Amino acid sequence: MQDKKRIFSGMQPTGVLTLGNYLGAMRNWVALQDEYECIYSVVDLHSLTVRNEAKELRERRLSLLAQYIACGINPEKSIVFMQSHVSAHAELSWVLNCNTYMGELSRQTQFKEKVSKHKDNINAGLFTYPVLMAADILLYQTDLVPVGDDQKQHLEIARDIAGRFNGLYGNVFKIPEPYIPKVGARIMSLQDPTSKMSKSDENSNAYITLLDSPETILRKFKRAVTDSEAVVRYDLEEKPGISNLMSIYASVTGKNLDDIRQEFEGKGYGDFKAAVGEAVAETLRPIQESYNELMAARDYLQDIMKKGAEDANRIARRTLGKVYRKIGLQ
Ligand code: TYM
Repeated sequence: MQDKKRIFSGMQPTGVLTLGNYLGAMRNWVALQDEYECIYSVVDLHSLTVRNEAKELRERRLSLLAQYIACGINPEKSIVFMQSHVSAHAELSWVLNCNTYMGELSRQTQFKEKVSKHKDNINAGLFTYPVLMAADILLYQTDLVPVGDDQKQHLEIARDIAGRFNGLYGNVFKIPEPYIPKVGARIMSLQDPTSKMSKSDENSNAYITLLDSPETILRKFKRAVTDSEAVVRYDLEEKPGISNLMSIYASVTGKNLDDIRQEFEGKGYGDFKAAVGEAVAETLRPIQESYNELMAARDYLQDIMKKGAEDANRIARRTLGKVYRKIGLQ
């Protein structure tokens, strides 16, 4: 019997994680491992919605697995696996596709954003992306889904699909809840603090990656866009740049916004930016060391992947079997 509540979440292997991924989601993933039964996936099927070079994708998914572990995901405690290794994800996704309306998918803001970015490749997978995400979550009878703020709408769709399916076929799926951090749920671009920090930004000064060197981190923060008031205070409307840096600093140091304001009272933005950069570099240093060791131990990563797929498959098959029985495929 399952006594601990269950957590599921995933990240796309689109490259090295950003500080946004780390503060918005990964840190919670790590923190929740003791209290919950956690299942974390490298969602490689999701990344097929954009074109990839096979060799690169293969490398990026292994690298993402190493990043999970370097950040503190413990494969002895949590299940860590590649989404494509558990075929139930694709199977349930099809069933759910047939129980999802075009109308509800048309309303997702991320689809609209992606369509404007990838005009040459508006494929059906981009449109049904949230259905695969719903399958990921629902397969594991998930209680909580730790994500950043931008995934809220996708989670709402997953809840709607689950509720509708349960209404038709009886209690098949647990209805999952989002778990979004109070600070750090939406880390903004360092160059345009009104848009989300994202790896796909053309300007690499806009984001920090987990593997940026301390010098690069300090330089990027030094160049971060702020304002001309020269006062460190939180005001999202008037001072989105400084407010973003305050959130980052609060998130990595555990200090609250008021303490930060006092700490930098009478000091210039130069001092503040240097302090944020140093705190971030210090947080990432041990992760980078561990990542480099892991990438040199590929057999170990392969073993984790194999064991994770077996464990995940066992749970996922149980739910898929239940679904198939309910709808008449078994
Ligand atoms: P992805 O890979 O874009 O992002 C991974 C996680 O990082 C969070 N995040 C951020 N948080 C704060 N500030 C930011 N700037 C920032 N950028 C990204 C995201 O909210 C996410 O939690 N659709 C998902 C992957 C997915 C998934 C799932 C998640 C597939 N199936 C099932 C949970 C459960 C995605 O593309 O995340």
